[in-house]
Amino acid sequence: MTHGSPNPRANKAVIPAAGMGTRFLPATKAMPKEMLPVVDMPAIQYVVAEAKAAGLDDVLMITGRSKRSLEDHFDRVPALEHTLELKGDFGKLDKIQEATNLGNIHFVRQNDALGLGHAVLCAKQHVGREPFAVLLGDDLINEREDLLERMIDVQQEKGGSVIALMEVPRENISAYGVAEVSALEGSTGDVVRVTGLVEKPDADLAPSNLAVIGRYVLSPAVFDVLERTEPGRGNEIQLTDALQVLAEGEGEGFGVHAVVFSGKRYDTGDKLSYLQAVIELACDRDDLGPGLRPWLKDFADAL
Ligand code: UTP
Repeated sequence: MTHGSPNPRANKAVIPAAGMGTRFLPATKAMPKEMLPVVDMPAIQYVVAEAKAAGLDDVLMITGRSKRSLEDHFDRVPALEHTLELKGDFGKLDKIQEATNLGNIHFVRQNDALGLGHAVLCAKQHVGREPFAVLLGDDLINEREDLLERMIDVQQEKGGSVIALMEVPRENISAYGVAEVSALEGSTGDVVRVTGLVEKPDADLAPSNLAVIGRYVLSPAVFDVLERTEPGRGNEIQLTDALQVLAEGEGEGFGVHAVVFSGKRYDTGDKLSYLQAVIELACDRDDLGPGLRPWLKDFADAL
């Protein structure tokens, strides 16, 4: 900021993880999709680590059915730790303590899966009247990207809310929330103004090929709007509908900007994207990449 006192900076993260995960049945019949392992870590741990890396120390997870496994994963397991200590297996001990060392994680339960907007509304009391980040628990952004930090900076500078957009092929657009945007005056960068949003439009009605992905930095004004938001598409309270109101309106907390992201992102709730995440992240790893990459080449050659 070049003038006056700086706007408050988001320092809390809200991670909705209460969806039904129907696209991944039957694996998600008794287990949240956020617990599916991506290589050897549940998807949700990457997301919590990303929040922490962006300086968000206070994490609130919105859980639903089968929340036990999510809570347990971030809790200590003294008996297992003791066994590994006795064996002198400090490598594995470090691995299991990584999740516990991610800091204080709070949990609140969304009793009915009434939609992402409703899940975010469950965070109202915990968040208070400050800007806050929302990271979808099944959306992975490669750890080399600094998208979330960038979004927090933009929100602090411009106020209102900030969403993340990604170009997707027209034929896939109807699976996403889609944004109508206008360039910012004098800017050629990755930040645009959002003028409208529509959830999962038919491809020929989509206002652009810019899809909303699972990172948001929101003004607390979103809670007031969500409280008045009627169920929309799929009879769910849609976060996209509340953002549309914030994008159209004016005044304190209104206005929506977007950071257009061109890095790597995976939707681990979608089977194909999940498989791609596992293969790409495993190929990148020092312990698995050297074995996996040549095998993958031979396998692909034989297809
Ligand atoms: P999705 O749109 O992927 O829906 O949710 P879903 O129900 O989880 O999965 P499918 O489509 O049936 O396979 C996007 C994010 O919002 C959370 C999900 O956990 C996911 O992180 N969510 C969704 C909630 O927390 N509560 C809800 O009521 C709906």
